[in-house]
Amino acid sequence: MKIAVMGKIHPVGLKIFNNNNIKSFEIDNFNEDNLIDKLSDVEGIVIRTANLTSKILSECKKLKIVSRHGVGFDNVDSKYLSKNNIALAITGTSNAVSVAEHVMTMFMYLTKNIHLSNNLVKSGNFKKKSDLPNFFELYKKKVLILGFGRIGKELSKRCHGFDMDVYVYDPFVKKELILNNNCIPIDKNDGFKIADYISVHLPLNDGTKNFINYEHFNLFKKNLIIVNTARGGIINEEALYDALKNNKIKSAGLDVFEEEPPNENHPLFNLNNILLSPHNAALTLECRKRMSIESCENVYNFLSQSDMLNESNFIIK
Ligand SMILES: NC(=O)c1ccc[n+]([C@@H]2O[C@H](COP(=O)([O-])OP(=O)(O)OC[C@H]3O[C@@H](n4cnc5c(N)ncnc54)[C@H](O)[C@@H]3O)[C@@H](O)[C@H]2O)c1
Repeated sequence: MKIAVMGKIHPVGLKIFNNNNIKSFEIDNFNEDNLIDKLSDVEGIVIRTANLTSKILSECKKLKIVSRHGVGFDNVDSKYLSKNNIALAITGTSNAVSVAEHVMTMFMYLTKNIHLSNNLVKSGNFKKKSDLPNFFELYKKKVLILGFGRIGKELSKRCHGFDMDVYVYDPFVKKELILNNNCIPIDKNDGFKIADYISVHLPLNDGTKNFINYEHFNLFKKNLIIVNTARGGIINEEALYDALKNNKIKSAGLDVFEEEPPNENHPLFNLNNILLSPHNAALTLECRKRMSIESCENVYNFLSQSDMLNESNFIIK
């Protein structure tokens, strides 16, 4: 077996390959020609955020599995994989807690204006605390979670810990699942009208691009704090800028951007009511270790099993 690891991962997962005498190598140059050259004879790929297009995949003559170090797979041409019987794995049990904690951090930071307090004290203006704008509590506020999958569920538990009322919009899960988690199912626009907080946990696809756009910002409460740690483009960035600039909502937190990395002159950077992070919600040390182990295990388990099945003359479809 020969495995390519696209992007740096925590070394703990690579021990799985080393301990089983499997050859693995890291690729950090994602230029198309280099990828075509390096990937032509690998059976497995562990991939972080680089793009795997159908053109590159069509040159991977021995490929059996692509294993995402993460859960989103919009950087991989999954239609090509399906058509060509190549497996796709994700680290489904690894990163929900890390992302849910990141959302809570953004909620609290933006609710309490921590950045302004910090600047005030450091600039020697301790006594001017009454100049700071009002800040608030999460207690008894309404939070709307968009998408009740792995991360949405973990977030709901943490919001309950703060005595928030948790509403969920996810038409693809059973209402009982939402109710059994002490949350309230609600329609999208009804949720938009009552929410004090919104957190986005949807996959990015044709149905969710611009899921929140200009028209929705007219429905929101003025005190809304909205956080997107899912994928850039689910909230339309121009509409978000317009809403923040014109105080249609209180503030926003973004871990993800329509273009990554964002342009250094991105208009959102000039606003005070936004908090940004560099797509690192899932990159706590604990989570990096879990994702490294799970993504490598997925490759190892799949390939060992498919070898066994091949030996017994099974055909995997
Ligand atoms: N910032 C980061 O570092 C980071 C880390 C992990 C995951 N993510 C992103 O977070 C998102 C959620 O991850 P997850 O593990 O919870 O995924 P998941 O698949 O477990 O959950 C997604 C949920 O969204 C729901 N959904 C899909 N389309 C919907 C729609 N149109 N309307 C309402 N609900 C819809 C699904 O029913 C599902 O319950 C993904 O986009 C993933 O890429 C980001």
